Amino acid sequence: MAIKAVPFFTQLSDRELDVIRAVASEKTYQKNAVVLTEGEMGDSLYMIQSGKVKVFIGDEEGREIILKILGPGAFFGEMSMMDKQPRSASVTTIEASTFQVLSHAAFEKCVEQEPRIANMVMQILAQRVREADRKIGTLALMDVYGRVASTLLELAVHTNGKLVVGEKLSQQELANMVGASREMVNRILKDLTDRGCISIESKSITIINREFPPSL
Ligand code: CMP
Repeated sequence: MAIKAVPFFTQLSDRELDVIRAVASEKTYQKNAVVLTEGEMGDSLYMIQSGKVKVFIGDEEGREIILKILGPGAFFGEMSMMDKQPRSASVTTIEASTFQVLSHAAFEKCVEQEPRIANMVMQILAQRVREADRKIGTLALMDVYGRVASTLLELAVHTNGKLVVGEKLSQQELANMVGASREMVNRILKDLTDRGCISIESKSITIINREFPPSL
């Protein structure tokens, strides 16, 4: 099993990995499959071995806010697994994905044998709260222009000496991440392109100048 490929697990010893391997089960989903539904009960934690998912909350009219896009090495579903409350968000695949799945009982068994596993989950939860705090800050304090700029910078990674947003994000998905309409995001991306701050290719956005102007 390619479980070592999951960064969460790269810090674990072989013994700790064996403990997880013994109780995890593998699940594969097609692209655009629903993995978790907000409000439903469930007690499993999913570790992403390959693929990508989007974590989002929505309303009855089909509007959604994307909380996070997660890729290999990340996990989700830990909240309901730990507090036995309904799922806090929905999760769907945006690529065909394979997960290692741990039930609450299986997770407890792992932690009983190897307590360090719980510490690592807690560390990642702390990181998530920090990120969520930053997001609350940008939603409350920035205009849409600032939110688009800060989301692009958050998603960008250094690739061949360039700062690139490699996610194949549609304008609608970006709009759902910043809580704005697709039309508004389209206008902002065009403006950022015209000002030479970004360049948009078919599958990526390159940040040319990270000193984005304050607003339109
Ligand atoms: P759970 O509530 O069990 O099911 C939905 C999952 O989405 C949740 O566990 C977390 O794993 C994940 N999730 C919820 N909010 C966020 C967030 N802000 N950032 C990343 N993941 C999240």
